[in-house]
Amino acid sequence: MTVKTMQTEAVQNLLLKAAGLDKADGNPRLKQIMHRFLSDIYQMIEDLDITPEEFWKGACYINELGSNNESVLIAPGLGFDHYLDIRADAKDKLEGLDGGTPRTIEGPLYVEGAPLSVGEAKMVDGKTPGQGMLLHGKVVDEEGNPIAGAVVDIWHADSKGGYSYFDPSQSAFNLRRRIETDENGNYTARSIVPSGYGCPPGGSTIKVLEGLGRHGNRPAHIHYFVSKASYKHLTTQINLSGDKYTYDDFAFATKDELVIDARPIADKTLIKENGFEDNYFDVEFNICLVKTDKSAAQDMHPRERASQ
Ligand SMILES: [Fe+2]
Repeated sequence: MTVKTMQTEAVQNLLLKAAGLDKADGNPRLKQIMHRFLSDIYQMIEDLDITPEEFWKGACYINELGSNNESVLIAPGLGFDHYLDIRADAKDKLEGLDGGTPRTIEGPLYVEGAPLSVGEAKMVDGKTPGQGMLLHGKVVDEEGNPIAGAVVDIWHADSKGGYSYFDPSQSAFNLRRRIETDENGNYTARSIVPSGYGCPPGGSTIKVLEGLGRHGNRPAHIHYFVSKASYKHLTTQINLSGDKYTYDDFAFATKDELVIDARPIADKTLIKENGFEDNYFDVEFNICLVKTDKSAAQDMHPRERASQ
């Protein structure tokens, strides 16, 4: 039998005091969020008859999650990043800012300040093994006019699924570049085909996912920020087709419009023309930006990000 105490004066007073609502000091927004947060957790404890053992297991898990730096990894795994995208899409629609290339999650592995070049860039440091990839496309507006001077900020994993900065074996900014589109709106990157990756084995995220009967894998993908004054900032990523996890991403980032083929190229002339030594893969991703005069929409949302 579940005991019911939530609606008693003792519990309601406890919630008000715990959230500082009986005090003049403090941050009103924090108080509002904390009161709701505590109320929902207390209610869950009552409804699901959470035992003290289960509660303390959860509290210790939060300690472990933080010490492993995995709170930003379990967040997409539990759908929070995608849920925030669903809300942002709905807000855009309400404000007439929908359309263009779809957004999808940023993930936790962006690093600010990658080298910037115009038109094209070599993303790989020359020491990183992998199959060559020519990644290119055009940035256009909703009428199909090319947008020159848009900054296409690209980051992706190496062939083992590791990201520079977070993987100390890679050189600084390896597989991270910002490319300003040329006068025809084009960008071109010479890189290597990324691999998908999984949550760290034995880590805090995979522990929970396995408890839920889920896996913690992502397909091969490439992240993008695309920005230009007077256009809505775009955070997106493409998933390469044919990966086991293309449509089964633990982070819920896949969208049909963002699944792109990597076409194998064996033509000797093209290989030479495009600066590769051997067969490579051609990946074309064209991007459509939405015009806006709202300055907040032109910037990426503020968030703690790595920089170097
Ligand atoms: Fe990623």
